Amino acid sequence: MTGNPLVIVLMGSRSDWDVMRQSSEMLRKFGVEHECRVLSAHRTPRETEEYVGAAEGRGVEVVIAAAGGAAHLAGVCAAHTVLPVLGVPMESASLKGMDSLLSTVQMPAGIPVGTLAIGPAGARNAALLAVAILANARPELREKLKAFREEQRSKVLGERLE
Ligand code: RP5
Repeated sequence: MTGNPLVIVLMGSRSDWDVMRQSSEMLRKFGVEHECRVLSAHRTPRETEEYVGAAEGRGVEVVIAAAGGAAHLAGVCAAHTVLPVLGVPMESASLKGMDSLLSTVQMPAGIPVGTLAIGPAGARNAALLAVAILANARPELREKLKAFREEQRSKVLGERLE
């Protein structure tokens, strides 16, 4: 997408992209301008601070941050902006994402991160929640969300098992 992003989708590593592209695909489905980047709380702390700190001034309204393992990215983002931050815990090899989930969700009071499910469901739902936040002031997005719910309803009701 080419205009100013309303949503930024950050991930701690290129290895997160296979899952996080699903956030991007969902945002594209709703026609939401967004920007995807790899930035790490641990490996690029200064660049993460600069990028997230500048987001509000660029017109960004929601930050999605995905990381795995000792997953501090969403919390670090939340430390540097008052924009809503949605955290997506990545599934990790050793602990299957429980490490990522707990380190993303257990923010101390005062600096919130809205944490989604581990892995692909979290990636897609983070995008849907971002759309829902944007839809508070954009009636056309709200209509698209309602249509998306209707799509899912029709699909379930149309299931034929035998
Ligand atoms: C985290 O460490 C990343 O978000 C990724 O989920 C995990 C592993 O990163 P790589 O070693 O694959 O780069 O920072």
